[in-house]
Amino acid sequence: MIKVGVLGATGAVGQRFVQLLAHHPWFELSVLTASERSAGKKYRDVVNWRLDVPFPDDFGDIIVSPTTVPAVKKLDLVFSALPAEIATKVEDDISRAGVAVCSNARSHRMSPDVPLVIPEVNPEHLALIDVQKDSGRDGFIVTNPNCSTIMLCMALAPLRVFPFQDVRVATMQAISGAGFEGVPAMAICDNVIPYIGMEEEKMEMESKKIMGTLSGGMVKEASFEVSASCHRVPVIDGHLLAVWVDIDVPLQEVRKAFLSFHAPFSGLPLQPQKSVELMEQPDRPQSRLDRNRGGGMTVTIGRLRKGLRFVALGHNTIRGAAGASVLNAELIRSKKYI
Ligand SMILES: NC(=O)c1ccc[n+]([C@@H]2O[C@H](COP(=O)([O-])OP(=O)(O)OC[C@H]3O[C@@H](n4cnc5c(N)ncnc54)[C@H](OP(=O)(O)O)[C@@H]3O)[C@@H](O)[C@H]2O)c1
Repeated sequence: MIKVGVLGATGAVGQRFVQLLAHHPWFELSVLTASERSAGKKYRDVVNWRLDVPFPDDFGDIIVSPTTVPAVKKLDLVFSALPAEIATKVEDDISRAGVAVCSNARSHRMSPDVPLVIPEVNPEHLALIDVQKDSGRDGFIVTNPNCSTIMLCMALAPLRVFPFQDVRVATMQAISGAGFEGVPAMAICDNVIPYIGMEEEKMEMESKKIMGTLSGGMVKEASFEVSASCHRVPVIDGHLLAVWVDIDVPLQEVRKAFLSFHAPFSGLPLQPQKSVELMEQPDRPQSRLDRNRGGGMTVTIGRLRKGLRFVALGHNTIRGAAGASVLNAELIRSKKYI
């Protein structure tokens, strides 16, 4: 078993990590960290468990550690669900101390030697781990993208067989995407907020790195442009995206591309049966009905219309965060980086 820990284990994403790792066949979870406010106390006493699954009792008595190098240095790998301001230094320090880091934070996503990976889209970018190792780092950092960027790139991956240059996207993003303290009830009930700080910039930058080509130890960004408009809506989990792409081929060909898309690997424990699922009903996918497809790891596509226009949906704290990171770690393991 690979010994793992979760940094920021009390937050919205940290709790999803604990849920997904509780009975994992490859990873043994033994260390949970959080801020000084929580450190030294039992996990069950400090976590405000708000997930749609029961609290995993086996982990309740773990004493929460401070988020420091000594707390995790005996582990093989840590999953990070830390705020970016904290993640920048601590993830760097932990990876230099010889521990692999799979991070959700934005801190290192755009660093040239850090892979920004979605296993179904750009698994070959993991080769950047060797660039980090060659620079003298004992461990390494691998990141997963921002939650709405993951849904967008998963939806674009089957369409790479057609040339496109212009991607426009409007998001309708769930409240859990802002963390537990993120959006007060008085601000989001009966309301739509047409602003999510830095979200549009992240979608526009990260997509080009993820869908870029790796050559000579560097990623050459994809040439298409993304124009994003991001909105917070009163939904607990699940980001819905309306997407426009300048692809002008018969809809039957687009449908075929979505239906025939397969992950370029098999046998990873968290891998859903279908990474991308096309729904034909005219009013699907819907956030509440479809976010848990494939255990929350499937991205559903619908409302295909000429133009090309369609809708994509994914679970933001599973496929868009903790699940993305765990799938990255499984791929890393299967490629024997750990
Ligand atoms: N929510 C999403 O859908 C989503 C999706 C993709 C990526 N992300 C990214 O994932 C990260 C976590 O997001 P979240 O939504 O889970 O946030 P959150 O609910 O606010 O949780 C933050 C976690 O970090 C800990 N923490 C806060 N300050 C700390 C400090 N000074 N030192 C050590 N630990 C500290 C908190 O511990 P205490 O409980 O002790 O304060 C808590 O465990 C962020 O970088 C976010 O941008 C989130």
